[in-house]
Amino acid sequence: MSLSLLATSSFPSSSFLYPLRINSKTNQSTVRVGKGVAYTSCEQKHGKEGDNHIMDRRNVLLGMGGLYGATAAIGNKVAIGAPVGPPDLTKCQPAVDSENGELVNCCPPYSTVDIVDFVPPPKDALRIRKPAHKLKKEEIEKFKLAIQKMKELPADDPWSFMQQATVHCTYCNGAFEQSGFEEEDVLLQIHGSWLFAPWHRYYTYFWEKILGKLIGDPTFALPYWNWDAPDGMYMPKMYIDKSSPLYNDNRNHDHYQALMDYDYVFGNPNPTPEEVDEVKIRNLKKLHNLYTETIGSPSLFLGAPIKAGGVPDVAGGLENLHGTPHQWTGPDASPHHDLGNFYTAARDTMFFGHHANVDRLWDIYSDIRGNKIEFNDPDWLEASFIFYDENRQVVKCKVKDCLLTENLGYTYQTERHAWKDVKRVYKKLVKGKKRSAGEGLTLSPVSDFGTEPRALDSTIRVLIPRPAISRSTDEKEAAAEVLVVDQMKFNHKESIKFDVYIAKPTEGLVGPDLGELVGSFVRVAHTHHKKHEAKFSKIELGITNLLDDIQAEQSDSLVVSLVPRLGNVIVGGVHIDHFDSDI
Ligand code: C2O
Repeated sequence: MSLSLLATSSFPSSSFLYPLRINSKTNQSTVRVGKGVAYTSCEQKHGKEGDNHIMDRRNVLLGMGGLYGATAAIGNKVAIGAPVGPPDLTKCQPAVDSENGELVNCCPPYSTVDIVDFVPPPKDALRIRKPAHKLKKEEIEKFKLAIQKMKELPADDPWSFMQQATVHCTYCNGAFEQSGFEEEDVLLQIHGSWLFAPWHRYYTYFWEKILGKLIGDPTFALPYWNWDAPDGMYMPKMYIDKSSPLYNDNRNHDHYQALMDYDYVFGNPNPTPEEVDEVKIRNLKKLHNLYTETIGSPSLFLGAPIKAGGVPDVAGGLENLHGTPHQWTGPDASPHHDLGNFYTAARDTMFFGHHANVDRLWDIYSDIRGNKIEFNDPDWLEASFIFYDENRQVVKCKVKDCLLTENLGYTYQTERHAWKDVKRVYKKLVKGKKRSAGEGLTLSPVSDFGTEPRALDSTIRVLIPRPAISRSTDEKEAAAEVLVVDQMKFNHKESIKFDVYIAKPTEGLVGPDLGELVGSFVRVAHTHHKKHEAKFSKIELGITNLLDDIQAEQSDSLVVSLVPRLGNVIVGGVHIDHFDSDI
């Protein structure tokens, strides 16, 4: 049995030792101290037989000094010093409908209730979530029946389909200010930070439990839209059967049979039959990059910290990636709604299939890291939300209780991770293309970003210095190299997407080729009150492995290209940073 070490060195004393991610079967954890650093040593979650991990760096865990790196790089964020908590239910206000900017009611149908602490369910048999496109007929029928029953409930029943959908709006569109920060107009918002993954884990969990209750089947498990597997990159058939309660007409009907291209933006044509394989490989390559570049720096995957009183400003790679299935499924006419807009997203049953997969991708991430806690920080672990549960009780749920899906009584059916070994295939593909493209050899000069913010209305190409060159393998293990696009401004009402590429310059000159895609900023529209607007955002993208791939480790600068795809953004700057690794 292997051990994973949970570093807790971000606090002066060992007063915050969280025996979390303990083995779900034995509930045992031990605490020990070594090298002057407090560790919680926990048994690793039992490996799921047959899982194909892209890497296993648990051995690296043992070699590092237990530094909690992410804090160093992002520690200058608002530090009011308390975890974000649930809203004051008595202070709900109208939220904002992004379609027309009008105020709407996204308040829960209860305001004075007893709130009890969530107690994780007893550990008996695990519910097994399966891929939607592989579900058996009986399983689909069971799901349909549960949704039918949920849709038949009275509109004001907190279990009803619409009330459940509204929960997303409640936590996203300005129905509440953060409790204690009402005077300062600090929005309660669970997107754009490290709250994204845990909040959505609980949200889908309670939806699943309520559905199970409605059909009297506690083993009911939510199907997931397996859009990370080549065969799953289509809308699962059960959602597009017009006679089914799972159906929602507010979708892009042109996509009912189409392959989802992760590069999609509203209005793009579907891949042609000749393009299908190539698009699948490109999609897989993006997943591969996401995992390899973020595995030691959880904020790059899950989003940046937020504390009480803070404003979310950095979505992780997982959240950015998840924006595309939202935009691809929703109707492409503007103003966007249903899955294309956070205000209405959860009115589509596909939302929950989509988010079960997002949740699964987090589970895979945790698994690759040997279940090492992503942020051993009370501001994350003690952050809490409230939900209306399957026993008609309002429960307060802490992040620390949802770090293992097993702690919530479910797991994911083991599937092959197709992105694991896609890199080689992708390389071949790109090589073949370049040869036939007959790329010109004209090189042109690139200048730096300058000191003024710039509108991203056409491609911005800039030369960005690197803080260090020729980094050794150890240095790369110890800190990720991160490209930061900073001080971005945009209108919350808009759907936004832009791509970020890097290329190796030749003495300050660069060819017409954009180079390699590093990642994309994808933002699903979600309006809230005017008073909450006008904040800056950034995107942080790991490039350590990519630099090796393009043999740019010796370059003292990189050509960064920002390519607008959708919406209007102002960019304040671009720079390269190092984020200490925690493994
Ligand atoms: Cu809360 Cu996919 O959104």
